[in-house]
Amino acid sequence: MGFSLIALSSAVVLIFIFSGALFPFFVFSGPLSTHSIRPPFIASYFLFIDQSGTFLVSPNGTFKASISGTKAQTSPSRYYFSITHVASDAIVWSANRNASMSNSDKLSLSVDGLRVANEAGKLLWSTPPLNSEIAAMQLLETGNLLLVDARNITLWESFENPTDSIVVGQRLRVGKSLESALSEQDQSVGDYRLLMTDGDLLLQWKRMTYFKLSMHEKAFKNSYGEVSFLAINDTGLYLLESDGSTAVIQVPLSGPSGFRIGKLGSEGRFVISSFIGDDWVTELFGPVDDCHIPFFCGKIGLCTRRPLSGTCSCPSGFRVQANGECIPTDTSLSLPSDCKSNANRNGSDQFNSSVSYLQLAYGMDYFANDFNGPMEHSVDLSACQDICSQNCSCLAIFHENASESCYLLEKHLGSIILNPRPENDNRGYIKVLVHSSPENPTGNNNNNQKHNFPIAALVLLPPSGFFLLITIVAVAILWLRKNRLSKTKNNAESGRCNSSSSAEQEMIDIPGLPRRFNHEELADATENFKTQIGSGGFGAVYKGTLSDKSVVAVKKITSLGVQGKKDFCTEIAIIGNVHHVNLVRLKGFCVHGRQRFLVLEYMNRGSLDRPLFGNGPVLEWQERVEIALGTARGLAYLHSGCEDRIIHCDVKPENILLHDNLHVKISDFGLSKLLSPEQSGLFTTMRGTRGYLAPEWLTNSAISDKSDVYSYGMVLLEIVRGRKNSSFQTLSHSRENSSSGGNGLSSSSSGSGARPIYFPLLALEMHEKRRYAELADQRLEGRVTSQEVEKLVRIALCCLHEEPALRPAMANVVSMLEGGLPLGEPRVESLNFLRFYGRRFTEISRLEGSSEQNQNGFGLINPTSNTSGLYNSLTCISSQQISGPR
Ligand SMILES: *[C@@H]1O[C@H](CO)[C@@H](O)[C@H](O)[C@H]1NC(C)=O
Ligand SMILES: *[C@@H]1O[C@H](CO)[C@@H](O)[C@H](O)[C@H]1NC(C)=O
Ligand SMILES: *[C@@H]1O[C@H](CO)[C@@H](O)[C@H](O)[C@H]1NC(C)=O
Ligand SMILES: *[C@@H]1O[C@H](CO)[C@@H](O)[C@H](O)[C@H]1NC(C)=O
Repeated sequence: MGFSLIALSSAVVLIFIFSGALFPFFVFSGPLSTHSIRPPFIASYFLFIDQSGTFLVSPNGTFKASISGTKAQTSPSRYYFSITHVASDAIVWSANRNASMSNSDKLSLSVDGLRVANEAGKLLWSTPPLNSEIAAMQLLETGNLLLVDARNITLWESFENPTDSIVVGQRLRVGKSLESALSEQDQSVGDYRLLMTDGDLLLQWKRMTYFKLSMHEKAFKNSYGEVSFLAINDTGLYLLESDGSTAVIQVPLSGPSGFRIGKLGSEGRFVISSFIGDDWVTELFGPVDDCHIPFFCGKIGLCTRRPLSGTCSCPSGFRVQANGECIPTDTSLSLPSDCKSNANRNGSDQFNSSVSYLQLAYGMDYFANDFNGPMEHSVDLSACQDICSQNCSCLAIFHENASESCYLLEKHLGSIILNPRPENDNRGYIKVLVHSSPENPTGNNNNNQKHNFPIAALVLLPPSGFFLLITIVAVAILWLRKNRLSKTKNNAESGRCNSSSSAEQEMIDIPGLPRRFNHEELADATENFKTQIGSGGFGAVYKGTLSDKSVVAVKKITSLGVQGKKDFCTEIAIIGNVHHVNLVRLKGFCVHGRQRFLVLEYMNRGSLDRPLFGNGPVLEWQERVEIALGTARGLAYLHSGCEDRIIHCDVKPENILLHDNLHVKISDFGLSKLLSPEQSGLFTTMRGTRGYLAPEWLTNSAISDKSDVYSYGMVLLEIVRGRKNSSFQTLSHSRENSSSGGNGLSSSSSGSGARPIYFPLLALEMHEKRRYAELADQRLEGRVTSQEVEKLVRIALCCLHEEPALRPAMANVVSMLEGGLPLGEPRVESLNFLRFYGRRFTEISRLEGSSEQNQNGFGLINPTSNTSGLYNSLTCISSQQISGPR
């Protein structure tokens, strides 16, 4: 410390002498300290050449502010005023990124602001007008550059004006963005940006979204609150609510972190890396897939997925140009330029050109199709092309035949993704201009027809030839369709999930696939989605009546990951094949453009949470036993009764539905896998609900059917008690104080008798004392015997064993409930973890001090409040074992 002080002060003296020698008129107005500079002050690379342009360092020397050149091979080098992490040489911020300076251009600090100007006095960069006079410029140990006034109030800071990077301690607030540099050498703003919105972190290319943080397979969604800012720290990346501690989305980052930085690279990837020892370690990047980067293969370049990287080529009908972009092979065709040049305007033939379309082969897709809905619904191909032809900003279209969706690609064209998946019925058409030869300005038809036919689908010509050609093309298209239809006719009647009838494409024929509805049928059945009867992790549920008068529940799946859509058909086929009296029947589905709907059996009494936790009539004990048994049977069937073992992953009262006469059915099975990205079959991202999640979810060990058994055990305890496991409990001694006698919990929870109780722990303690009767729902007022309660509590505790192997299989649970198997004996040594959870729960409840908000407090993770009635869900990653033997 002493040594560095001496070193610093000698450096200060040197600086002083050096600048003093060159500019005898130049006076520092205050004492110069190397982590704080007072105005007036002037710096250039040459002025501080002995310190390689550095004139300000943070207190411990971690960061420096300097004017330095990028390592450009080409001279002259570009110089920037920037902040650099000293050990790793990483630039964390630069001022004049869009206007580089020379080695003698100057940075000046005055009381009015910080400016970078060239020798001719031209302003290259400056701070905005500030509220009061600057007293000092400081570089903090975090890397933040501050301008403060005489009262040490921050007037401006580099952390609030980020460039392409974010470091630990910095917050990226909603509305702010990081913008990529053009290249390592040229810091000017490039085409990519990372935009913080109140729901997600978006990556955009020319303002078009191509990636969301929530899509990353390591991202957990923790709450449905509104994001306020992004922050990175030693444990992860967080999108936090305004309270600064509730994470809406989080990505854990493990391992020792050295100096950690998140940077939006010039190639369009957001990368978080750490400088550990002497090396950079990449900890997270997105998008993972090269082909998801919009310009990876340049304009119209075709990106083909390889296991580790994308490879580029041109689609057929195009060739590579010297600059690497793809242009039409046919030299009489050209790509339209931007709107301003009249060539593309409205197909006008100022340059003797007309508009045509080059068709892309099947299996091609475009990044924006997944993020922007279609521009138009229910238009056929030629109408879709007409829309595009009439708008000079439209450069290409995608048309999905089955749903008749029309996607317009406007202003900029990126790379095309080769994505031959069965349900991709989208077909791309690139707009081109057809030039007639100058010698023959009007008679261009023959010329064009030659190439238009095989490749171009539609040609718009000056009015005279227009209708004739339309007719020819229409006839030809009809003929082609007929041809294709006859080839695929045999498939037409069987259930087919993909909607295309192309012969070039593999058909997936899955026996037993449920009925496919079209969107109008569902809109009619639900009277335009009028009556919403629920909303779950997957989206809203509407009540509907089909034309045959049967009542259905229509679930509109909204939270499907982009990758999830890929698996939709496979999953539907599996779910559709599962028939059991205790499982909600899938009656059909609908694929409408990018939307997915499930048509499900309607259960008129709703989900179990309502009668169990609500204020309505009390569920009698025998009804509870029936519900427990039906649920167990349904799960047992999922686990072992059907061909594909299905792990539900989200067993909770909300997913147990009831119908008259105590019909019990489980819903939402088989859907977990559709939710989020699935990467190369290695990881499956799944969703469960806090409070019902088995410990193995949190330790990242293998998830199995036994994880459902655990959740079932939790539900069983809630059935016994008629309350959420993690909610406040009025102890029996205070029952007399409770006014209404009913469940009375909310009214008395603020009274002295209420204390937070983690019910599973209470159940364990009462089991050890063999005092079961006290555990039953107080609203039953004794209409249940101790033996009856003992049966369910003991089964539940066996289900909760920490060691999955010690939990009974669901089939055995059924037998125990039916009496065919003797009751298991809970093993206390495998239940001790409940004591730990209980302690954590009590602590957190005290901190939160709220009773009803806390129903999901699991104890290991900060419970988030649940005011909106949405489920607090936690997305987890687990190993391949999830899908079981497939
Ligand atoms: C001014 O504020 C900075 C950080 O906010 C602090 O490190 C520094 O000690 C303060 N200086 C004075 C003179 O209060
Ligand atoms: C990182 O931030 C999160 C969210 O605010 C917090 O829960 C966590 O404890 C922090 N980690 C460290 C090491 O500070
Ligand atoms: C072309 O499309 C853009 C974007 O949808 C729209 O803003 C513009 O008004 C359209 N122009 C014409 C002439 O329709
Ligand atoms: C397009 O869809 C229509 C009806 O939606 C169908 O009859 C036709 O065969 C489809 N054409 C192609 C090429 O898939």
